[in-house]
Amino acid sequence: MVAILGIETSCDETAAAIVDDGHDIRSSVVSSQVDLHARFGGVVPEIASRAHAELVGGVVAEALVEAGADLTDLDAVAACHGPGLAGALLVGVSAAKALALTLDIPYVGVNHLEAHLHAAWLEDPSVELPLAVLIVSGGHTMVVIVEEDARYRLIGQTVDDAAGEAFDKVARFLGLGYPGGPAIDRLAREGDPTAIEFPRPMLHDGFDFSFSGLKTAVLHHVRRHPDVEVRDVAASFQEAVVDVLLAKLVGAADEAGARTLVIGGGVAANSRLRSRLVEAAEESGRPALLPRVALCTDNGAMIAATAWWRLRSDGPTPLGCGAFPSLRLPTTD
Ligand code: KG4
Ligand code: ZN
Repeated sequence: MVAILGIETSCDETAAAIVDDGHDIRSSVVSSQVDLHARFGGVVPEIASRAHAELVGGVVAEALVEAGADLTDLDAVAACHGPGLAGALLVGVSAAKALALTLDIPYVGVNHLEAHLHAAWLEDPSVELPLAVLIVSGGHTMVVIVEEDARYRLIGQTVDDAAGEAFDKVARFLGLGYPGGPAIDRLAREGDPTAIEFPRPMLHDGFDFSFSGLKTAVLHHVRRHPDVEVRDVAASFQEAVVDVLLAKLVGAADEAGARTLVIGGGVAANSRLRSRLVEAAEESGRPALLPRVALCTDNGAMIAATAWWRLRSDGPTPLGCGAFPSLRLPTTD
């Protein structure tokens, strides 16, 4: 049995988890900084790094207690080393290296995007490959085909805003606060998704995404119709985003012959995306794997699970290896 501590500090969540053999989650602790950033309407990098530095020790200690483990039970320590905010990443990377050095065990630097892909295996280790995975977060929107031996093919990605970024910007404009995704999700449940026919950008145009024009369309509509019901705007905007996301995911799965449809990243917590994905999967004749929400949003378990695979395939990461704010997904083509 290999017990790995995974630390995640790439954005505004300080998280740590202990996972055995890449799939058995013994503990997972997430401390969100949402309250610290809310009054600024978005994540403030300097505040995020300082908060990570204050919180990371306690979060790791809590993960150990929750797992009933001791530091000496750990076989390796992993941290997300990119992509993400430079100062925020360095906190997790430094903490993981310090522990690895002190305990004389391997350190593993983990790619945040690869970790979001691994949430699928964490949820269901027997999931049928190839997978068509939609990663939708505050910083990324991409469709990736996952094949045997953790080989990834990037099929499409956003050419401008990420899906989560669009949710956050539209929510801010509508006065719904930060983070915007959950706020729009909640309000949209009371609204009519067919009330306003917003554009579906690039719907039939390859596998890349664009959300900037949709965001602008929402702003124009609200300015032209100041009396519009905000809940209808939220529901109609959300429906446009979900339509595009699912069309691309299913299209990519068809083209690549993928067996299973998967979603990951913070926007995968969206209730409309989740229910529509189940319908889309039924229509397309393949199962959908929806990792539980705690595995979709940033967490330490996905870091520890990915580290277990990477440790087996590539060995430990040298301690001289730093943080990589613009790290990309390692793809095969
Ligand atoms: O993956 P994540 O936790 O952090 C990043 O790596 O970015 O994703 C955060 C993003 C934010 O933009 C947030 O508004 C969005 O995920 N989000 C949602 C929902 N919950 C979180 N978007 C739509 N509906 C939700 N329920
Ligand atoms: Zn993320």
